[in-house]
Amino acid sequence: MRSGLGWVLVAVGAFAVMSACSSSKSEATADAGAEGGVATSAVTWHRDVRAIVEAKCANCHQAGSIAPFTLATFKEAFDRRDAIAAAVRGNLMPPWPPSAACNKYKEDRSLTQPERDAVLGWVAGGAPEGDAADYRAPTATVHELSRVDYDLKIPQAYTPVESPDEYRCFVVDWPATATKYVTGFGVKPGNPLIVHHVIAFVATPDLLATAEKLDADDAGPGYRCFGGPGIQKAPWIAAWAPGVRGSDMPEGTGIKIPQGSKVIVQIHYNLANATATPDQTAVEFKVDDAVQKEAVLLRFANPSWVQSRTMNIPAGAKDTTHAFAADVAPALTALSGGALTPGEPFTVYSASLHMHTRGTKATIGITRASGQTDCALGIDDWNFHWQGNYALQAPMVVNPGDKLSLECHFDNSGARQPMVAGHPIPVKDANWGETTEDEMCLGVLYATK
Ligand code: HEC
Repeated sequence: MRSGLGWVLVAVGAFAVMSACSSSKSEATADAGAEGGVATSAVTWHRDVRAIVEAKCANCHQAGSIAPFTLATFKEAFDRRDAIAAAVRGNLMPPWPPSAACNKYKEDRSLTQPERDAVLGWVAGGAPEGDAADYRAPTATVHELSRVDYDLKIPQAYTPVESPDEYRCFVVDWPATATKYVTGFGVKPGNPLIVHHVIAFVATPDLLATAEKLDADDAGPGYRCFGGPGIQKAPWIAAWAPGVRGSDMPEGTGIKIPQGSKVIVQIHYNLANATATPDQTAVEFKVDDAVQKEAVLLRFANPSWVQSRTMNIPAGAKDTTHAFAADVAPALTALSGGALTPGEPFTVYSASLHMHTRGTKATIGITRASGQTDCALGIDDWNFHWQGNYALQAPMVVNPGDKLSLECHFDNSGARQPMVAGHPIPVKDANWGETTEDEMCLGVLYATK
């Protein structure tokens, strides 16, 4: 694990991620029509709100998706109007954690100000239905893979046993007989009500025996895992969370899967809103023989957090901060598996952050030679269940001499402990690691030369 230069390849943990990388498909937008509070006439469902709900809520609030109820008709929305107003006012819905003050992202599903005004104005005005003739369909686009080459089911159906959350890893055969590149990733949840996120890792040939042993040692399909696949070195391919079907990697780029690898699929099951029934999720891959630019998921953290356990988070402390900044050039070859070259610039297309449940906020930045820091990804209200990999609207170039920076905040009080078997675990000091008792502070960048 230790590179000669003190950097480490750290494990990527549970990313409850939207979609790996964004395709260039346009974002669903809803023309809010009238703004809330505009005095002209009442804000109505058909004229002002329906298209917003269809564009920004229905992906999840439809039959067979993750949300516990559907928002497909006037009556359904009317009956939930107060909860809708509360969720919108509190920025809880739609789930979209990145901070707009830090950067701009593709496929931003948050509500624009006019959309918020329309929804809140509608509820405040008594949530009238209005005239169906006023309805204008949103210019919605489905986020999905442009092509599916491999459609790989987990080997056997699995019924989660732990409530509310269970993390299970499955080793899945990879059909290619030669080295290939993953250029798109998607998921078909077998049981959409309980599949909260999915991450795919590569069990490269050297890691295969370890993965198969983990699988064999655990009774039942797959094996128990939490922060990652239980194999620190396993590279990350992509991750998914509800709300999209899948998406392509940025044009011309892809992640290498060496010949003889298998894929480890981590599934986060959530039973908060549904009972446990069997699930046989499938992961979908778009695959190419070659790409113009090999992409890597650069996973970075302060090496001393990992090697010297300096990331202590005292029991009970409500705001512990760990931060660092460093020039990655000396470690770039090791961190990127040779895909990036020290002394040359590299381009970052998307970014993720990873902490566990005690994380409260975090930022990834690029500190330029001039001393200025450009914010790549900021999350002000961390939620372990709505982690994401966010495609930057404008890819960022990291130049020789720039530093990557990372800052994570943690609340290690009783309120932020993970649930195990239905109960929060006891409060105690936390430090770097993969289990529920541990924490992480990890930046992940999808990058090419
Ligand atoms: C990415 C998926 C997703 C999208 C998009 C989404 N929701 Fe939700 N919503 C959920 C899930 C899942 C829950 C269940 C609670 C949870 O897990 O946070 C939920 C719960 C809710 C609740 C209940 C909150 C409570 O207090 O229990 C309301 C109201 C709601 N959503 C409204 C909306 C509205 C309005 C939109 C669009 C503006 C929207 N949601 C978009 C996934 C989504």
